[in-house]
Amino acid sequence: MSQLSTINIGICGLGTVGQGVWKHLESARASLESKLGVKLHLHRASVRDLKKKRAVRVPATRLTTDPLAVATDPAVHIVCELIGGTTLAREVTLAALRLGKTVVSANKALLCAHGPEIFAAARAHGGHFFFEASVAGGIPIIKALREGLVANRFGLIYGILNGTCNYILTRMEREGLGYPAILADAKRLGYAEADESLDVEGWDTAHKASILAYLAHGAWVPTRAMLVEGIAAITQADLHFAREHGYAIKLLAVITRDFANGELFVRVHPTLLPLTKVLANVNDVQNGISVNGDVVGETVYIGRGAGQDATSSAVISDIVDAVLLLRRGNAPLPVPVRQHCPLAPLERVRGRYYLRLDVKDEPGVLAKIATATAHARVSIASMVQRPSARRGAATLILTTHESNEKAIRATVARLTRLACVLEKPLLLRIGDFAG
Ligand SMILES: NC(=O)c1ccc[n+]([C@@H]2O[C@H](COP(=O)([O-])OP(=O)(O)OC[C@H]3O[C@@H](n4cnc5c(N)ncnc54)[C@H](OP(=O)(O)O)[C@@H]3O)[C@@H](O)[C@H]2O)c1
Repeated sequence: MSQLSTINIGICGLGTVGQGVWKHLESARASLESKLGVKLHLHRASVRDLKKKRAVRVPATRLTTDPLAVATDPAVHIVCELIGGTTLAREVTLAALRLGKTVVSANKALLCAHGPEIFAAARAHGGHFFFEASVAGGIPIIKALREGLVANRFGLIYGILNGTCNYILTRMEREGLGYPAILADAKRLGYAEADESLDVEGWDTAHKASILAYLAHGAWVPTRAMLVEGIAAITQADLHFAREHGYAIKLLAVITRDFANGELFVRVHPTLLPLTKVLANVNDVQNGISVNGDVVGETVYIGRGAGQDATSSAVISDIVDAVLLLRRGNAPLPVPVRQHCPLAPLERVRGRYYLRLDVKDEPGVLAKIATATAHARVSIASMVQRPSARRGAATLILTTHESNEKAIRATVARLTRLACVLEKPLLLRIGDFAG
């Protein structure tokens, strides 16, 4: 605890988020200071380019191009790492933690790549690391898992964690346009990056899923150990089928834990989610997370998952927690001690499945498909035929009874080998989540 009358904040990175934090901290300063009983001073900031025009006015004497100088400045009590990436951001974070400082970060990639090292450095040197803005922007999901739901074990967490994918799927559904057209528009409007792969292939969601799985279960699941599939292959045929049968298609992170044997499974894939679920109605750039605790039941969180203002809201909430820690010794509940959780084998990851196949429109095809699925021990629940855009072809959409990942992958492999199947079938999961 300290008798400091002023807390000095250093901001490494004055880009989208850094400028938002600067702006909103300045405008909320009086109210925050009266709540906290201490003065908040934006002491120094670092940027790469001193000449760049910024939306916030920062006196030149308080700007540097050296983020390490900010992170290690003895006068700075709280360091905000808002640079991004995993190299310089790691150096800055570790340098500050090794001096026992408190670091606030919005950097999911850093946490995912170096989480154990960062938490170990914080523990070893008496520093603290706050990371509310790293998952789901303005939604306080880290605090909910860490504190509000501390009495619970989490059998199931699932969520829409990438606003770009949700925006694309929502507009495809609403406007009946194809993926390439909506993606191009999303780029033009600034909702998708020039290189969209991190978002649409599911890796951004996987980074966030890794952080949530760690908080909920204490285990770091690397993204390479997850099942990760993106949204690029979704077509209007899938969205029509989903809507007609009472589903929306959402890119979900799904984290399941079987407490009977401790097994954990983390996956990211487009999912047919029943419209009766709250998250099926979370649209556009919004994020949503459903957390099922064994004590509380289901709780659901919805809000803006990215952008300057939503992310700044989360960073400032961490800064306030850091001030309470410095002033009153209010340490947050510790992050879990790292545990080893066995990953569930594919045969124990169960569910119903959706398959879309383009097939030759000729006699005997249905029988061949039924035989291939039966060989893989997957039972078909429904099959509908739709016209295909290809000449001489038809589109078949199958749903299965409950099966498992191992069997459905064997089914897809068998179907792909059939001469009458014109390309690899699209496989989607049906999200019959309890809770
Ligand atoms: N943007 C969002 O909506 C959002 C949402 C959630 C989390 N986040 C996370 O927040 C973090 C920051 O994102 P952002 O969108 O604010 O990034 P950004 O706009 O690219 O800002 C990065 C800042 O870091 C500075 N910087 C970069 N490389 C540097 C170097 N080598 N030396 C010194 N300074 C350097 C840049 O300086 P210049 O300004 O001079 O170029 C800039 O001020 C990332 O970890 C991101 O994943 C962002």
